[in-house]
Amino acid sequence: EITVATTVAALRDHTATWRAAGERIALVPTMGALHPGHIALVEKAASRADRVIVSIFVNPTQFAPHEDFASYPRDLTADLATLNGKGVSLVYAPERGEMYPDGASTVITVGGPAEGLESDTRPHFFAGVATVVSKLLIQCGPDVAVFGEKDFQQLAVVRRLVRDLSLPVEIIGLPTVREPSRLARSSRNAYFSEADRARAAALYAALSDAARAIAAGKEPEAALAVARVTIKSAGFALDYLELRDEETLGACFADKPLRLLVAARLAGVRLIDNVRVTKA
Ligand code: PAJ
Repeated sequence: EITVATTVAALRDHTATWRAAGERIALVPTMGALHPGHIALVEKAASRADRVIVSIFVNPTQFAPHEDFASYPRDLTADLATLNGKGVSLVYAPERGEMYPDGASTVITVGGPAEGLESDTRPHFFAGVATVVSKLLIQCGPDVAVFGEKDFQQLAVVRRLVRDLSLPVEIIGLPTVREPSRLARSSRNAYFSEADRARAAALYAALSDAARAIAAGKEPEAALAVARVTIKSAGFALDYLELRDEETLGACFADKPLRLLVAARLAGVRLIDNVRVTKA
């Protein structure tokens, strides 16, 4: 039986008991609709701590008015069943008013890695993410928190905010879990018809082809131009395809690890993905 806490007070009753017993705590923040990508994070968390907290909160402040906040998949019973037997001690599932009490007026904004890429199409997004992740870290007080590389810019933003605010937590990033077609697992894949889900695999194919070509010495702008054409011909509307420094997400330098990041829309569903570019 996984305990569910819906208030900060109930959550802290549990964490205080664990702390008093000297136990280490890991946090996996999610918005629910849990899939094998989330479960990989939970298993990593369980390997690094005595107690695992999974937070499930569809955070309104990271959605723009025209985005899918209302229709985002929510099924706490199914999520609890998915987490059963995975070593989770507690699910923290606060109501909106618990996370954002009336008159809530404090927002965490991050510069640096939060600039560009996702922010160009979703300017509201990282302030919402940074604020809710800060609150979750303060509320749960974990020793470690686990995030996916699937949301690579988000991971960079979380690392930066933890460093800048001196939050006493270790951030762990995990590689993207993919479907057999290599499409990155995402709660939003549930919006696809079966045919569109199959077509969506073209995104990772183009991304990894470009990364391999660049690693083999092809001029990056030429490789990106080819991939942009391939992605658009597969029926996607492309938001961006960019090569960046893996740590800062700023302009790349030849001697530092590089990351290729993409965002594109297919059949009304917005997908993001990224791969490391390994220079030979
Ligand atoms: P959500 O999209 O539910 O993702 C929760 C965590 O799961 C994130 O760290 C994300 O990167 C990771 N994840 C999602 N799909 C993955 C995949 N295919 N492989 C590996 N990890 C994957 O990201 C959010 O929620 C929210 O922005 C949140 C951080 C919870 C703040 O509201």
